[in-house]
Amino acid sequence: MQPTVTPFFHPPTGTWTYVASDPGSRDAAVVDPVLDYDWRSGRTGTATADAVLAHLEAGNLRLRWILETHAHADHLSSAPYLQSKAGGQIAIGQGIRQVQATFKRIFGLGDEFVPDGRQFDRLLADGDALELGGITGKVIATPGHTSDSVSYLFGDALFVGDTVFMPDGGSARCDFPGGDAAELFRSVQKLYALPAETRVFVCHDYSPGGRQPRCESTIGEQRTSNIHLKADTPEGDYVAMRRARDATLDVPNLIIPSVQVNIRAGHTPPAESDGVSYLRVPLNVLGRPL
Ligand SMILES: [Fe+2]
Repeated sequence: MQPTVTPFFHPPTGTWTYVASDPGSRDAAVVDPVLDYDWRSGRTGTATADAVLAHLEAGNLRLRWILETHAHADHLSSAPYLQSKAGGQIAIGQGIRQVQATFKRIFGLGDEFVPDGRQFDRLLADGDALELGGITGKVIATPGHTSDSVSYLFGDALFVGDTVFMPDGGSARCDFPGGDAAELFRSVQKLYALPAETRVFVCHDYSPGGRQPRCESTIGEQRTSNIHLKADTPEGDYVAMRRARDATLDVPNLIIPSVQVNIRAGHTPPAESDGVSYLRVPLNVLGRPL
């Protein structure tokens, strides 16, 4: 049995959210759900997440899992909102603890924030199984973009997060704290060992060349036509290309709000005495000097 996969695109951040469901049991998993965020005002919104909820309801789907491929630096997660409305367990790779410790230091978070993964319902290791009705999913650790990155394989559907993008988009940056291009190379080799017909669903698409956003390719297509990393690309060539390219990239627009929320499994920081939740901006820490 193969899962039904429904994609949802979030144009402001180029993010793809997916609902994967087992047609037999109608059990569903949501992968990488987005919370709307207006950086000008600091307001959050749930219109995008509500579209996912409407899809679950229309299909009479039971939400079992809310899966993060990693703690994203470019969009906020709506996992807790989805869970409050539809249930399910929020899960992420166990490498999140390292990411939490790193960003606890960068953002100067206090004792209230404990970097041991407790904010999530499940921490996943390479090879862990995830039940989705009659389909058994598998966790594949794919560090490199970040140290907590994992991919999820349900039947023939592989959710790769930010390992590779669509073949004409290449691969994800590896210059965040804990990222490593050589590690990403090895992670992608694991994915390329899967059957050629495996469907590959990416977490982002930035419409290279101005084409329409796309979300699905196959392992076979990636092996032969990924512009950064084909099956026969030497590791040294890839790592050199990746490092040179990463040196030119700007810090993502939403890294400061995204990471602070996403390392809390999508929860905003506890409200202060005035009832308001605040985010912190570390001055002259991230990015290159101006
Ligand atoms: Fe990412």
